[in-house]
Amino acid sequence: MSLTIKDVAKEAGVSFATASRVLGNYGYVSQDKYQRVMEAAEKLGYRTHSLAKSMVTGTTKTIGLVVGDIENPFFAGLASWINSTMSLEGYTMMVYTTDENSDEEARGVYTMIEKRVDGIIIAPASTRTYNHIQAAKNAGIGVVTIDRQIPELELDAVVVNNSDGAFEAVNSLIQLGHQRIGFISDSLDISSNLERLDGYKRALETAGIPILDSLIETTGFTILDGYRKAVASLRNKNHPTAIFAANNFIMTGLLLSARDMGIQIPSQISVIGFDDMEWYKLSTPTISVVAQPLKQIGQTAARLLLKRMLNKDRIQRPEVVSCSTQLILRESTAPPGKQ
Ligand code: RIB
Repeated sequence: MSLTIKDVAKEAGVSFATASRVLGNYGYVSQDKYQRVMEAAEKLGYRTHSLAKSMVTGTTKTIGLVVGDIENPFFAGLASWINSTMSLEGYTMMVYTTDENSDEEARGVYTMIEKRVDGIIIAPASTRTYNHIQAAKNAGIGVVTIDRQIPELELDAVVVNNSDGAFEAVNSLIQLGHQRIGFISDSLDISSNLERLDGYKRALETAGIPILDSLIETTGFTILDGYRKAVASLRNKNHPTAIFAANNFIMTGLLLSARDMGIQIPSQISVIGFDDMEWYKLSTPTISVVAQPLKQIGQTAARLLLKRMLNKDRIQRPEVVSCSTQLILRESTAPPGKQ
């Protein structure tokens, strides 16, 4: 038979209501009775029943994190910073990975609503399918989007300057003398990819270089998807002299395809990508990137969510924080070589 508050109250010689206030961490209790209840709970080995506690306090002290692929170092890094910030405030975090699939994402969000999370941080898989996110907001759950935005929902968001970051990356290739520059990303239904494509196009337009649809490719969100798309692009004897890979997994697939096809980087093709990875500075050649500030994104998202959850009865205008990316030029970009 599991221990109850009633057992602790009896052991401490206080009323059930007093023991409930102490163990539920709410209301006023004298120092003496507080001490007696805590000592009784310790002696009996009582652990608060979180569900029962939440029925009293109205919060579960739990948040949800919904992302496309928790194995992706980008999302894993964000999850770590969010969790370390939220746990300092006494919150636990449940993670749901969606494979960038809106139906899967909806399943995850509705599960979190049923489990009465107090808040959700989400990288939405789509800018068009979001009834489930609206439902969470309507249920009084604090919602913050990361990496992507859904303006129609008027939510707090933490993003980066995707378009400017991509512009800088592609412009660095143009300054090296490249004219035929390819673009590979996963779904353009993800706002961050659409913004990176905008930056790619702006850099070409600014330099007076024609934008060729044949050099713009989209694929799935896995490394294998990036590999297959890169093979198709590099197989073309008239392949671009440089490629901008719109995220870490596309870049990984591109590097693997160049290796398997015996194409030398950067002498035969220059590559630059979005998202830094630890091994990019260890590889040969080292990889040029646009790095995202994971610590700043994660901590800012947690801060916005805490503020939203702790003031949920007050109307607060949505806050959108845009963090700056950093262009890091390494060895994988160089002037066009002999094809
Ligand atoms: O694969 C991770 C990528 O998806 C990152 O670039 C991040 O911005 C997200 O859009």
